[in-house]
Amino acid sequence: MKIGFIGGGYVGLVSAIMTAYIGHNIVCIDKDEDKIKHLKEGKCIIYEKNLALHMRQVIESRAIIFSEHYKDLIHCDVIFICVGTPSAADGMADLSYVEDALLTAAQIVPSDCLLVIKSTVPPGSCIKCAELLRANGFDHKIASNPEFLREGSAVHDFLHGDRIVAGGDNASLKILQQIFAPLIEKGVIFLGTDTTTSEMIKYCSNSFLSIKLSFINEMANLCEAIGADITTLSEGIGLDKRIGPLFLKPGPGYGGSCFPKDTLALAFLAQELKIPCDVLNASISSNMSRYRLMSDKIKAIVKKESIITILGLTFKANTDDVRESPAIKISQMLEQEGYVLQIYDPVVGKNFSNPYMSRYKISNSIFDATKDSHAIVILTEWQEFAGINYDQIGMHMKERILIDFRLIANLDNAKKSGFTTYAIGKNMAPVG
Ligand code: UGA
Repeated sequence: MKIGFIGGGYVGLVSAIMTAYIGHNIVCIDKDEDKIKHLKEGKCIIYEKNLALHMRQVIESRAIIFSEHYKDLIHCDVIFICVGTPSAADGMADLSYVEDALLTAAQIVPSDCLLVIKSTVPPGSCIKCAELLRANGFDHKIASNPEFLREGSAVHDFLHGDRIVAGGDNASLKILQQIFAPLIEKGVIFLGTDTTTSEMIKYCSNSFLSIKLSFINEMANLCEAIGADITTLSEGIGLDKRIGPLFLKPGPGYGGSCFPKDTLALAFLAQELKIPCDVLNASISSNMSRYRLMSDKIKAIVKKESIITILGLTFKANTDDVRESPAIKISQMLEQEGYVLQIYDPVVGKNFSNPYMSRYKISNSIFDATKDSHAIVILTEWQEFAGINYDQIGMHMKERILIDFRLIANLDNAKKSGFTTYAIGKNMAPVG
């Protein structure tokens, strides 16, 4: 089958490469000429485990071509729309890129080409988009196929996902089943439904996980106050199969390009429909206030105007993505409070520039970032931070304080090297 992907961003690029990898002919287009130039040269433009390898394979086997021209979609049987749906100021998802992509594609491909929305769109969007196409004289069918790829393990998630969710009429579902047959044969569950339910599954999956995280983050606060241990607590409740062990690790708040945006969009939809969604709203506000709480915890431990070493800038480990990163939000707050920051992240390079933290350059190593500093704050769970040589860095620090917001550090080693250690959900003094 010949399949097009519109949008070579995170979702589009991973999906296009991996759909080629499972045996289809792919055209991946993006209007960003620079991006397409790099892709044509075989340069994988995103940091994602194993993606560069699969990209090379599918380019060599000619299973994929990259282009900036919509006209190259002309012979496609199916086109996946993978463009961005940013949050508008009120929290609503902005569908203008999706609508543009659909209308432009519809002008090029015949009406028997199935148009599939992979971008995360509010429930009801496929129906509205189909109406938009009709209003413009096109009668292509629209289906929904949300993605559940986690950054950092997207290749694995594509090949071994828990499920493939698809929405559409029977004929559209059959086509989607054919596309994903190699995965379905290997045991991935295919769940076919109507488009609105499919769209809703995507929003509810991300929202449910966000609620789980807000809950465990608040329980971490409570553990600190009563002297309980969050790691064992998570294990203890996670062993109950009805709860499950995943997404029970506390942190400085959830971030990234999906959870904050998708929870807000679902809350906005509920508000518009006047359906109370108190649990969802509470989770959103709990997460938003978490960054300030983390910065207050640091303030209660580290004296003003001290030098703080920030370890980790990305929103989680194994990605180079800093969108909605708690690490950046907390760093910004610390800077405003008068602390001097020395930052290290294994993948966010020296060229990192952020309008709010323009003075800061990223250090080359943990060693460089700890020179003369008074305290280390771990904000991303990079594996490198599990093996810090505290003896070595302690020698050139002015004070030895370690605050671990990701439960990744070896606290025993740090203590042996004279550090006073604090870890989230364990021994941090509560702040009001
Ligand atoms: C999330 C979903 O997990 C994917 O299924 C979905 O496809 C994707 O959004 C999307 O909608 O595109 P992602 O944003 O890559 O994936 O990141 P996650 O691994 O889900 O982490 C989200 C946030 O939760 C991060 O800030 C992470 O640090 C935090 N987190 C996660 C914790 O604090 N504790 C945990 O136990 C797990």
